Amino acid sequence: MYTTAFLDVPPLLGAGGSVRLPGSKSISNRVLLLAALSEGTTEVHDLLASDDTRVMLDALRQIGCDVQEPQNPASAPVHITGLGGREPHSPASLFLGNAGTAMRPLTAALALLGGEYQLSGIARMHERPIGDLVDALRQLGCAIDYLGQEGYPPLRIAHGAGVPPLALDAPIRVRGDVSSQFLTALLLALPLAAREQAIAIEVVGELISQPYIHITLELLARFGIAVQRDGWQRFTIPAGSRYTSPGSIHVEADASSASYFIALGALAAPPGSQNPLKILGVGLDSIQGDIRFIEAAQAMGARVQGGPGWLQVERGAWPLKAIELDCNHIPDAAMTLAVMALYADGPSTLRNIASWRVKETDRIAAMARELRKLGASVEEGADWLRVHPLRAAADWRAASIHTYDDHRVAMCFSLAAFNPAGLPVRIEDPRCVGKTFPDYFEALFSVAQAAPECIPVICIDGPTASGKGTLAASVAQQLGYHFLDSGSMYRTTALAAMRAGIAIEAQRESQLAELARSLPVRFDAGRIWLAGDDITEAIRTEEVGMNASRVSALPQVRAALVALQLAFRRLPGLVADGRDMGTAIFPGAPLKVFLTASAAVRAERRHRQLIAKGIVSTIADLRADLEARDARDASRSASPLKPAEDALPLDNSLLSVDQTTAQVLDWWQARQPF
Ligand code: DC
Repeated sequence: MYTTAFLDVPPLLGAGGSVRLPGSKSISNRVLLLAALSEGTTEVHDLLASDDTRVMLDALRQIGCDVQEPQNPASAPVHITGLGGREPHSPASLFLGNAGTAMRPLTAALALLGGEYQLSGIARMHERPIGDLVDALRQLGCAIDYLGQEGYPPLRIAHGAGVPPLALDAPIRVRGDVSSQFLTALLLALPLAAREQAIAIEVVGELISQPYIHITLELLARFGIAVQRDGWQRFTIPAGSRYTSPGSIHVEADASSASYFIALGALAAPPGSQNPLKILGVGLDSIQGDIRFIEAAQAMGARVQGGPGWLQVERGAWPLKAIELDCNHIPDAAMTLAVMALYADGPSTLRNIASWRVKETDRIAAMARELRKLGASVEEGADWLRVHPLRAAADWRAASIHTYDDHRVAMCFSLAAFNPAGLPVRIEDPRCVGKTFPDYFEALFSVAQAAPECIPVICIDGPTASGKGTLAASVAQQLGYHFLDSGSMYRTTALAAMRAGIAIEAQRESQLAELARSLPVRFDAGRIWLAGDDITEAIRTEEVGMNASRVSALPQVRAALVALQLAFRRLPGLVADGRDMGTAIFPGAPLKVFLTASAAVRAERRHRQLIAKGIVSTIADLRADLEARDARDASRSASPLKPAEDALPLDNSLLSVDQTTAQVLDWWQARQPF
């Protein structure tokens, strides 16, 4: 997840490859409860890892379900062994965080299972109503008390002496206009009481969020419960209902999240490509309402194929076809259409989107304001939005998109990076995507392509111990860019030569170059691995540093390491530190800094570093060493240490890391079009 203040998305050109989307929250917690009520073990694949599923899993364990979680839920299934007919463990006190999708269905299920329980959550959970559900369960004869405020959690279920006889003859009435989760909770739990007789539920008032009830009914069907439905007002659970585990079940990926990638295909996946854009985890068999975004994307020209759990999307009509659409059935995904409309052949109108006004932010106002920043002309009404396309490259403006703490604003505006003007797009506060899709930008960058020269590189070159590694890492962190410590590649080569017993001398140049070319090295989350051995610390010794300096003087070795260094230029950008980043490896980089500090300051810094590692040395020796190394690095014929002509000099002898970082970021910002 990007936690930076902003993320600059470079201009993007194409899309291809496979992307797996995270699971749907609504489906995840429903599946967990159904598995817990079934007999036998259910293998749950692709469960969403989030706070809300965490509390559900913990609660199920507490009431006696066996829950086996893999280290990484993305790669292996979770196994739940359900209660079947067994009694749950009781008494139990369950903490359910802020998960409405755990609190409501567990209340209903535990009230019908018997036993004594307390259900509580965080303070905000205790402000979220549950009275309509409790009223419905009390009608049946369940004993539920409020432990705090009437109508809100925390709750106590007191069935120590077993579930009392339930009043099942009359239909159970529940309000449908506050939250559809009350109806979902009853639908999920009442099959427990429908062994002998059918149970009817009647919705009082208009039912909101019908697509979510559809999800509930579909999942019940997969667990063997065939609910009969009369319109959206009356539901009947047949007599003899029994939860039957499907054995193995996949949690669909979130269909609203898929909309960004469907749009990506429509904008940028070339038809007939060898490397088509595939979306994994959600497909044409989806039970989620937002899957109908596909129809809207097709109306705009997208070519979509798919099957169970997968979609493949490519560009069809280009420019896209303008649409006029009632978006009531896909309110969330429709925001993606508003950005696609920039690429259409005429104005597009999205209608019946009044609900946008009361979401995370006033989404109609927010979309209009931000689309205008890109240069578009936008009209808006109480419940509609009309977006005029930006037909010519010259019509586009580079914009810094404010995201209003709204994950969907952040995600859909990243699609503006496909503009024909080749302009980057700045997304402010990118971490807001964490609400539903923490790794959205990583997923985008894994399937989006940019021209290599459009992926920004900041070069930070300088002599040893000038602090360039610290500075480069800090700048990379502020911008969310990748970080290349090119010195580590020479150090790794030196260490590999030392371990292989190859003398570091000019006569061995081609052997050393071969070693460098075929280094089994892996850079992973700040650690460096050489053939399965973590060498992050081992390459930092003075001895390895001195040998690195020697090995780096050999032109064939330098040439052998070029490809490895260039491969670090990946979306969304790179900060590279070394000696020749700006002169030899990335000569076209838009910002080059040559960092220096006086020999005295550098020797002191190195001394402090070594003391911290418990290594004894004297400042005088260190100074002599680093001056020797500077002399060799500067005098060698291959890429000698010298500033690129267009490098900005920066002496940080008297500056802190923060001050130096701020200076580089200022220079960088001055080069941006925002
Ligand atoms: O920055 P460092 O101390 O980790 O680098 C180790 C050696 O590698 C240094 O003495 C010179 C060499 N080097 C180089 O020649 N070119 C680079 N781009 C980076 C490092």
